[in-house]
Amino acid sequence: MTSEPGSTKFQIDLRRHLRNNEVERNLTILICELAEASKYIINSIRTGDLGVAGTSNLYGEEQLELDVLSDRILQKRLKNSGVVSSFLSEESSEVVYLACEDGQCYSVAYDPLDGSSLVDVNLAVGTIISIYAGSDLMQTGRKQVAAMYILYGPRTTIVYSTGNGVHEFAMNQLMEYTLVQENVTIDKAGGIYSPGGQRNLYTDGTREYVLSLEASGHKLRYSGGFVPDINQILMKGRGIFMYPHLKGHPNGKLRLLYELNPMAFLVEQAGGAASNGYMPIMDIKPQGIDDRAPVFIGCKEDVAMAESFVARELAVTG
Ligand code: F6P
Ligand code: MN
Repeated sequence: MTSEPGSTKFQIDLRRHLRNNEVERNLTILICELAEASKYIINSIRTGDLGVAGTSNLYGEEQLELDVLSDRILQKRLKNSGVVSSFLSEESSEVVYLACEDGQCYSVAYDPLDGSSLVDVNLAVGTIISIYAGSDLMQTGRKQVAAMYILYGPRTTIVYSTGNGVHEFAMNQLMEYTLVQENVTIDKAGGIYSPGGQRNLYTDGTREYVLSLEASGHKLRYSGGFVPDINQILMKGRGIFMYPHLKGHPNGKLRLLYELNPMAFLVEQAGGAASNGYMPIMDIKPQGIDDRAPVFIGCKEDVAMAESFVARELAVTG
């Protein structure tokens, strides 16, 4: 962006940024299609038809729940893009395979509207997207070629990475995404923590870890939405989010394919880390499309400390 006095302020939009960074042509098409889809999703969220599936609106039309509607919007874009050979949505139970037209094809796993129950109480929600080359989605997150999320908050923003840093864009009044920040980075250790799950179900190691964060002055910042909570860490450049293993729920809550892998890709690209307490999230080999995993994600040293508390716990119990 140039902003010299007297000169016209020139904004870099998402497409130009992808081109400037020499992102592969079909991947550029795919990311731009997803960005276009988000404009319809934000419109559905804002118009506030808090549709309940099976009910009808003022005009007698059947309404769809916002997460189902968001999924339809994304599916349509992916199917028509010509560059997608398979996709998987959190809303469906199987991978959809497509004939991909020409050149490099991609597969996409996505959560169309994460935190959708927060829409009713007017809190921020988001779309999370993981992208692989080819049509195999059952690979480790390490093999992702790109990841992104769209955050529907007071502003609508896109944060993406194609393995060349993390970049933030905001929607302007013309509904175009323009560059806010390039090469977002996070510090080694941070001052905020976002702990998901019920504390009375935490294992001893996680409870002690949280106590140690509190003792070192970390402030509690938890919105209940994975996208805004991760965005807060990336944009403030510090912090740790966790949704740990719980008593009775050894794999926590969040899904590997459409929630954890894409966020782990973005956070690692920004210089942070993401672990299930034992190993990096992106090295977990998926067994099924709806696998879950515990997660500690954010500043590198804070994640390493979480791992040491979990290891200590194993030493005690094992
Ligand atoms: O999709 C799951 C989700 O809504 C995330 O956005 C969020 O991080 C998590 O669940 C919150 O879970 P809980 O309500 O158990 O804290
Ligand atoms: Mn979700």
